[in-house]
Amino acid sequence: MTLRRLDILTIFPGWFDGPLSTSLLGKAVAEGQLDLRLHDLRDFTTDRHRSVDDTPYGGGAGMVMRPDVWLWAAEAVWNDLRPQAVVGRSDPHPDAVHVAGGPRPRTVLLTPRGRPFTQSLARDLAAEERLVLLCGRYEGIDERVHDLVATDEVSIGDYVLFGGEVAATVVIEAVTRLLPGVVGNEDSPTDESFADGLLEYPHYTRPAEVRGRVVPQVLTSGDHGAVATWRRRQAEELTRTRRPDLLDEDE
Ligand code: ADE
Repeated sequence: MTLRRLDILTIFPGWFDGPLSTSLLGKAVAEGQLDLRLHDLRDFTTDRHRSVDDTPYGGGAGMVMRPDVWLWAAEAVWNDLRPQAVVGRSDPHPDAVHVAGGPRPRTVLLTPRGRPFTQSLARDLAAEERLVLLCGRYEGIDERVHDLVATDEVSIGDYVLFGGEVAATVVIEAVTRLLPGVVGNEDSPTDESFADGLLEYPHYTRPAEVRGRVVPQVLTSGDHGAVATWRRRQAEELTRTRRPDLLDEDE
């Protein structure tokens, strides 16, 4: 199976205008290789301020994103229901196949407490038919969203961003470029860093000399076997010196 549809839930849908209209990601969406749908979380609110957050139980600084709004939004997206059909309900819509806590498309909450995002996880997500990305904001999200809505929690690194939008974009880029036909050259997604657990070997193009730096002789030798061996050794050496942790991992 390969990813066909990706839904994004965010309070800043406009944030994605740039990434989704530029580069190979924009092209994949424009050409219909990926059915990408943006949803505004505020369309699932009940009050005139369209509030998505509230003060924390137990006190303390900051606001917490409300579980009811996230639940309605996710149930609508999972089941292709309109906001009016779900907002305010205390139980799932009768037409809902995918329900909170039960069977639902892979639904990834972007959060610093999630599991680290890797090329291996990107491959895993690219093999799903549907993916839903939840972009959190503010200081936190009600714990019941983690329990009932998300099937996965993913972090793009050990640092804290304002919210999940940048992280979602990282996931979308890494996943989309693995889809068949998106990168153009079918060879490229595998022949690169991480595909075989190593960093990529160095690349060179014309001119043959720049400021006294010349292209390694083996690359102009015409000996394909020697080139392949050189590249492999370079990749191993780079990985050993820069990212020895990668050599210890299974994937
Ligand atoms: N939201 C805020 N920080 C994040 C991170 N590091 N990864 C994923 N989502 C986030």
